Amino acid sequence: MDFEEAKVMLEKHGQQHLLKFYDELSDKEKSDLLKQIENIDFSVLESLKPENISFARERQIEPLTEAVTIEDAEKNADEYTRIGIEQLKKGKVAMVLLAGGQGTRLGFDKPKGMFNIGISKELYIFECLINNLLDIVKQAGCWIPLLIMTSEKNNTDTVDFFKEKNFFGYNPDYVHFFIQDMAVSVDFNGKIYLEGKSRLSLSPNGNGGWFSSIVKSGLLDKIKTDGAEWLNVFSVDNVLQRMADPKFIGAVISAGCQSGSKVVSKASPQERVGAMCLENGMPSIVEYYELTDEMANQRLENGELAYRFGVTLNYLFRLDKLEEINNKKLPVHIVEKKIPYINENGVEINPDEPNGYKFETLILDMVNMYDSCLPFEVVRRKEFAPVKNASGTDSVDTARELLKENGVEI
Ligand code: UTP
Repeated sequence: MDFEEAKVMLEKHGQQHLLKFYDELSDKEKSDLLKQIENIDFSVLESLKPENISFARERQIEPLTEAVTIEDAEKNADEYTRIGIEQLKKGKVAMVLLAGGQGTRLGFDKPKGMFNIGISKELYIFECLINNLLDIVKQAGCWIPLLIMTSEKNNTDTVDFFKEKNFFGYNPDYVHFFIQDMAVSVDFNGKIYLEGKSRLSLSPNGNGGWFSSIVKSGLLDKIKTDGAEWLNVFSVDNVLQRMADPKFIGAVISAGCQSGSKVVSKASPQERVGAMCLENGMPSIVEYYELTDEMANQRLENGELAYRFGVTLNYLFRLDKLEEINNKKLPVHIVEKKIPYINENGVEINPDEPNGYKFETLILDMVNMYDSCLPFEVVRRKEFAPVKNASGTDSVDTARELLKENGVEI
C-alpha cells in the first residue's frame, strides 16, 4: 500500500489523522506505518456504532445440567483413561497454550509464563505447565504436539526463554509457536490512537482469535497431516492446569460431544468466574457480571447451584467443527482501558484514567457455536490455581499455597 492508497482508505473510515506526522518520518518508518495501516481490521470499529450496540444478542440463559461430575469421573476413570490414552498415542489430540495476553493485572513486564513463582528455587509458570504435560507424556508413552500462541509484543521473549531453558525438558520438535493478530485501540470517539509517530496503538486482539491465527500460520495443515482431530486449548495462568488429561478426553468422546470444558464448582454464587449454561438451547458461558442475583443463587432440585460450573479455560474442541466455524464472526467485546498515546503535537501521554477502547474476541464465545459441550468437573484445589493478580484473590500467593498443597516443590 502506498501513501495515496492509505490516504483514501483512511479517509473512508474517518482516520486520516494517522498520517499527520508522515512527512517527518524516515523511509523505513514510512513503510512501517503504511504496513500497519494496511493491516487494520476496520470491522472491529463497527462494533462501536450505536446501531450495533443496541443490536445485542437476545439471550435466553438456562442451566446446563448434563455434566460429568467428580463422582462420575471417578466411577468411569478406567474407561475414560483408556480412551484418552489411545487418542493421545494415535496423535489425535494436540495442545494449544494461549500465551498472547498482556497480563496487565499481574503487572509483570515480561510474558506471564516467564514469571518465577518459586520461593526457594526457580520455578517458572511455563515450567509448571510443561511439568504437568510431561506427566501425561510419561503416562501415554509418546510426545504430544504443543502449539503456543504468542503476540507480536511477547513472541521474541517467549521463544528465547523456551530455548534458553531447553524447553524445560520437552521435545522441541513437538513445540510450535504462532503469533496472534493485533487490534487497534481508539479514543472514546472511535479515533485510532497513535503510540508513536510511525506506530499505531495496537494490542493483542483477545484469546478468541487463536484458531484463525493457527490457520494463518500454516500450522493447521501440519497438525492435520500429523493426525490431530481434537485441540485441547488452555490458558497460561493456571499453574495447576492439567492439559491432555486422558480422563477428560475419554469422557468427552464417550459422551459423543463435540467439545468439552474442564470446570470447577464455584467457590460462592458470586465468584468472579464464567459459568457453563445453555444459551438459546446451545451450550454457552455466562459471565459472572451477566448473572442476576437471582440466577447466581438459583438452585436445582438436588440443592446445587444451577450455575455452579465455573470454567477454568481448558477446552477440548473437535477440529473439523473448528474449521467449519472459522469463517463465522465472533462477537467483539469492547473494553475500556488506559491507552498510552501521542497527542496532536506528538507529545507522549500516559493517562491515569481509561481514555479509550480496546477490542477483543473471546474463546468462550466459541463454545456457543458448538452443538454440544460437556462440562467435566475436576477437584478445584487440585487443578485450579489461577495467577491473575500480584496479591489477593487468584494471585501469586494463592497459587503458591495451592502448589505446595499439591506437593509441588517451590
Ligand atoms: P486474561 O483474560 O487473563 O488476559 O487471559 P491477560 O491479558 O492474560 O491478563 P490481564 O487481563 O491483562 O490481566 C486469559 C488467557 O488468554 C490468553 C492469556 O495469555 C491467558 O492465557 N490471552 C489473552 C491471549 O492469548 N491473547 C489475548 O489477546 C488475551
